Amino acid sequence: MDGNGRWARARGKPVMAGHRAGAEAVKRCVKAAILSGVRYLTLYAFSSENWQRTTEEVSDLTSLLRFYLRHKVAELHEQNVRLEFIGDLSRFDAGLRAEIDRARNLTARNGRLTLILALSYGARHDMLAAAQRLALASVRGEIDPASLTEQDFRDHLQTSSFPDPDLIVRTSGERRLSNFLLWESAYAELSFLDVMWPDFDETHFAALLTDFAGRERRFGRRLQPDPAL
Ligand code: IPE
Ligand code: MG
Repeated sequence: MDGNGRWARARGKPVMAGHRAGAEAVKRCVKAAILSGVRYLTLYAFSSENWQRTTEEVSDLTSLLRFYLRHKVAELHEQNVRLEFIGDLSRFDAGLRAEIDRARNLTARNGRLTLILALSYGARHDMLAAAQRLALASVRGEIDPASLTEQDFRDHLQTSSFPDPDLIVRTSGERRLSNFLLWESAYAELSFLDVMWPDFDETHFAALLTDFAGRERRFGRRLQPDPAL
């Protein structure tokens, strides 16, 4: 979800207005995901790098998050949405962490859509933490490093219980992954939209699904026989 700041600047508004409008786009996106039968949706709401923004903007973003966790989770629960969180949540204050736990516990048994919020998330941090846990288990003699598999590594990521993403979308015209789901995105389809995130709506969502449905995913295999043979 990128482009909140540019959306606001283009309208002569403060950045916070962009984030607020971005939160409305989140609602539209989640609704569209539910209606179209998407089972997993991960939103990159706050990156580990976002801590480097001004204290004012960081506090605006966390306040917005707190507001939505406090007032909007009941609605998601009614819609059978399960909320999950990835990222270094220890960097948030105890109050916000309590809201996160409450949301997770309340919705834990819901099955229509799993909505994963990536907060204070960075893929390299998650992979490093996985490597550290495996290294520790190895020096303790609990595992044999020579027989480690990709699945073993995957099992130590915070995303271990979620499927790899089929499609990753970035708005605002930037064409980068910026430390998002680096391991998990190995075979993801990528879409880059020129719309600013606050302008994102159900028509963009539907167009993304149509575009995705038309892509041929080979996972490195050759599906069509070579006509020359
Ligand atoms: C949304 O947009 C990013 C967050 C959710 C923190 P930005 O705030 O990065 O917007 P730009 O890149 O300045 O336009
Ligand atoms: Mg940005």
